[in-house]
Amino acid sequence: MKAEEIKAVGIVGAGLMGHGIAQVFGIKGYRVNLYDKDSGILKEAPGKIRENLQLFLEVKSIKESDLELCLKNINLCYTMPDLCKGMDLMIEAVSERLEVKQLVFAEMERHTSPQTLLCTNTSGIRIAKISEGLKNKDRVVGTHFWNPPHTVPCVEVIKSEYTSDVAFQTIMDLMKRVGKEPVHVLKDVPGFLGNRLQLALFREALSLFQQGIASPEDIDRVVKYSFGSRFPFIGAFETMDLAGHDLGHEVQNYLFPELCSDLKPLNVLKKMVEEGLLGVKTGKGFYEWTDERIKETIHRRDCGLLKLAKIRDGE
Ligand code: NAI
Repeated sequence: MKAEEIKAVGIVGAGLMGHGIAQVFGIKGYRVNLYDKDSGILKEAPGKIRENLQLFLEVKSIKESDLELCLKNINLCYTMPDLCKGMDLMIEAVSERLEVKQLVFAEMERHTSPQTLLCTNTSGIRIAKISEGLKNKDRVVGTHFWNPPHTVPCVEVIKSEYTSDVAFQTIMDLMKRVGKEPVHVLKDVPGFLGNRLQLALFREALSLFQQGIASPEDIDRVVKYSFGSRFPFIGAFETMDLAGHDLGHEVQNYLFPELCSDLKPLNVLKKMVEEGLLGVKTGKGFYEWTDERIKETIHRRDCGLLKLAKIRDGE
């Protein structure tokens, strides 16, 4: 199947990621079926999508009529057979547990035609593992959207050893058609690209805090106002080329032995989990989280992302 032949997309899981992925396709005119085993979460999805789209209206990325059309394109389904009926592509966005994902894939295989492409939004489980046990593994592709999927451009498209070249290319093309920035991931390694890069940063940030070198606030300020401020415009390899590899080699020589190389989650994090300091979920993590602060932070992030998209598009 070619990307232009895909007209209908079924999404399993209407949580944080699933409802945003539904929006990505709905706003581009695709027929979207959305299902969640928790009917309460499913029923909340249109309201959350409407709220997301209000922000797009606020920064003038869409018109009022686009908002209503997007919501009209999204159809809530209450069973897996209803969800899968007539779909050209299925995207799984259920909880990050291998056995749950495998059960969902078995059901998708049962209720779709053999031509339907099957994607998973796993954050890091190998695609080959998820497709284990299926009769036809060559139509399974990894599509790692980033949170929030309706505003972060990148989708990592992952090829397992079973994925066919055609299925992989179709998904790459489709992601471009819906305005995403797809990236080829040619080997099915745990964590793919983005989460490996991000986790390397998180490990070092936690280690710096654990050693008392700086506060979370100051480490966050370095991330946002130093290298982080360049990253929307130039990447890691562009930065290294600009700096010069003689300098880079010299710095790596003395700095690598100093960096954190712990193979387990850091003690500081373990302690926070034991004490119930889970961040936004419990109202306290490295920061205190009032409802107002959560709202303001998410609004700042999403507005920033949409404005950045406009800069990139040359508007
Ligand atoms: P979530 O917990 O918000 O949503 C998962 C939804 O799946 C829940 O609403 C749950 O009721 C539903 N569900 C569970 N089992 C099901 C089943 N058998 N059939 C139908 N629905 C079922 O989780 P979230 O954050 O949306 O994550 C979904 C996937 O996306 C996970 O694999 C996660 O690792 C991945 N992901 C998450 C990101 C994040 O920042 N939260 C970023 C990128 C990927």
